[in-house]
Amino acid sequence: MTNQKIILVTGGTSGIGRETVKGLASTGATIVFTARDIKKGEDTKREIRNETGNNSVEYLMCDLASFPSIRECVEEFKKRYQRLDVLINNAGVLSQERQESIDGIEFNFAVNYLAPFLLTNLLLPLLKQSAPSRIVNVSSSMHIEGKINFEDLESKKSFDKYKAYAQSKLALILFTKKLAKELSNDEVTVNALNPGVVGTEMTMQNVRTLNPIVAFIYRRTLITATKGAETSIYLAISSDVANISGKYFENKKITKTSPRADDEESANKLWNIATEMVEL
Ligand SMILES: NC(=O)c1ccc[n+]([C@@H]2O[C@H](COP(=O)([O-])OP(=O)(O)OC[C@H]3O[C@@H](n4cnc5c(N)ncnc54)[C@H](OP(=O)(O)O)[C@@H]3O)[C@@H](O)[C@H]2O)c1
Repeated sequence: MTNQKIILVTGGTSGIGRETVKGLASTGATIVFTARDIKKGEDTKREIRNETGNNSVEYLMCDLASFPSIRECVEEFKKRYQRLDVLINNAGVLSQERQESIDGIEFNFAVNYLAPFLLTNLLLPLLKQSAPSRIVNVSSSMHIEGKINFEDLESKKSFDKYKAYAQSKLALILFTKKLAKELSNDEVTVNALNPGVVGTEMTMQNVRTLNPIVAFIYRRTLITATKGAETSIYLAISSDVANISGKYFENKKITKTSPRADDEESANKLWNIATEMVEL
């Protein structure tokens, strides 16, 4: 990688993504983050530029719950930048109720899995052209609870927020492992990670639904977003992992995934379904 790295981070406007942008901006690289709200995008850009002294922090508008918006964002990115060294698929949701994306797809599945699937595939030619390059997928330890329910991928028959979220995070790891195999000759690595249990808006939204005593105990176990961003930053820039691909990390260490994340048949089947859903 050159010193003029260009790094794209989804969901840079809050939580782990914001701290990832900030940490990477401190290295002097050009950081482009996605925002879905102009004001949040502008505020974050200004604040991070001030906090790090790096004026090469930019943002692009992108609603990850909309395939057309993802496609527009990629076109805009390609117009503005000639290379992409690192893509960090960070943005995610834990949707408290069953909601559908603009494309009519269950929200957790759409934002946490189909969005990174589409964004990554659209940016792959640029990542290959910019090799050696990296893809970092922010998953979760919740993937361990996840099962790919091929009979009801979008929870149309019954919705459980944890099951829907866990399925989407397992799907992201299946994607990571399959993509790593596809890219084995391209000098483009792809790894997934669990950031830990972090005190961000996503977590607090969920904590507010818990019984107050459980919520009180739970709050005390949370780590900061700065700490939560460490493994993303490590996978994005550390020379330790330059040649590692298809792995899952926690605390900057390779960690075992659930056996379901190694199911190649599920990975292939899901890939084909996703390809059709996003119309690749
Ligand atoms: N927090 C944890 O304990 C934890 C644990 C394991 C994994 N994770 C994963 O870590 C990642 C970051 O989560 P976080 O905890 O930092 O959450 P967060 O503070 O809620 O931040 C989520 C980010 O994603 C963006 N986003 C959400 N929906 C979007 C959409 N439809 N289009 C575009 N952007 C969207 C948000 O934008 P806005 O600012 O506009 O809302 C925000 O920038 C997620 O993938 C999450 O699943 C978190």
